[in-house]
Amino acid sequence: ATTLGASAAEQGRYFGTAVAAYKLSDTTYANLLRTEFNSVTPENEMKWDATEPSQGTFSYGSADQIVNLAKSQGKKVRGHALAWHSQQPPWAQSLSGTALRNAMVNHVTQVATHYKGQIDSWDVVNEAFADGGSGARRDSNLQRTGNDWIEVAFRAARAADPAAKLCYNDYNTDGQNAKSNAVYAMVQDFKARGVPIDCVGFQSHFNAQSPLPADYQANLQRFANLGVDVQITELDIEGSGTAQANSYAAVVRACLAVTRCNGITVWGIRDSDSWRASGTPLLFDGSGNKKPAYTATLTAL
Ligand code: XIL
Repeated sequence: ATTLGASAAEQGRYFGTAVAAYKLSDTTYANLLRTEFNSVTPENEMKWDATEPSQGTFSYGSADQIVNLAKSQGKKVRGHALAWHSQQPPWAQSLSGTALRNAMVNHVTQVATHYKGQIDSWDVVNEAFADGGSGARRDSNLQRTGNDWIEVAFRAARAADPAAKLCYNDYNTDGQNAKSNAVYAMVQDFKARGVPIDCVGFQSHFNAQSPLPADYQANLQRFANLGVDVQITELDIEGSGTAQANSYAAVVRACLAVTRCNGITVWGIRDSDSWRASGTPLLFDGSGNKKPAYTATLTAL
């Protein structure tokens, strides 16, 4: 096939991108989105600060815009993210203990209920583990409500939308290391105790400091072997030219080699859409032209 989405579909996968609602009026952006991708992740529009700006008052306008566009174009939606230490509204940042726990559960329930039946996969919990060698949970206001906050969030999401796949999503877990070992142990424990979890997301933000790990495929495979789907959720790779193209192709090949790796999402369309302050980490240049990384990705699919 001649587009990323159609080629991935031939492999039984999706190929998605992060989408910003305010860019949908840009015709270059909207045309690339429509033609190349068959899954979308709202880049910021479903986060806690966007969807519940004041406690108990929900705001779905820009997220609905993305979901409705996806629906009209037959694309899947990855929901991102129900419970996360970052991009919380100020009122939540100032809560703790039972009040925060109850607010978090209510948030998960309300948002997952609003989108019930429309989300392929939800990032229920994002970035809950610490970097480095400790294998510990990340310290956060949510973590300080008790170590069980993650499973409580997953149970609330399952109750609200039983059809959505429920994912744990994180970064620096792309290879085998202390952080990914800790996530692995949590997934193993959830599976053993019947806590609902269906997928693990690997953000896959790569650059010179944190390149594509040599054991990427092996790491995806060991998670898949626990009985969860694995997804590449926020792919971007710093660099340019052949080196960048080769890395993108290697990511695609790793995913295709793992039966339960069911989709890849890049974190933006054009280089100018990237959240990165500088660099050229995506598949299309700032004018929307296909880069060598695009061609390598399409060829590998
Ligand atoms: C980023 C967005 O791309 C930016 O627009 C925003 O300012 C900050 O968040 N990990 C995640 C994403 O899970 O939600 C982040 O998205 C990038 C890192």
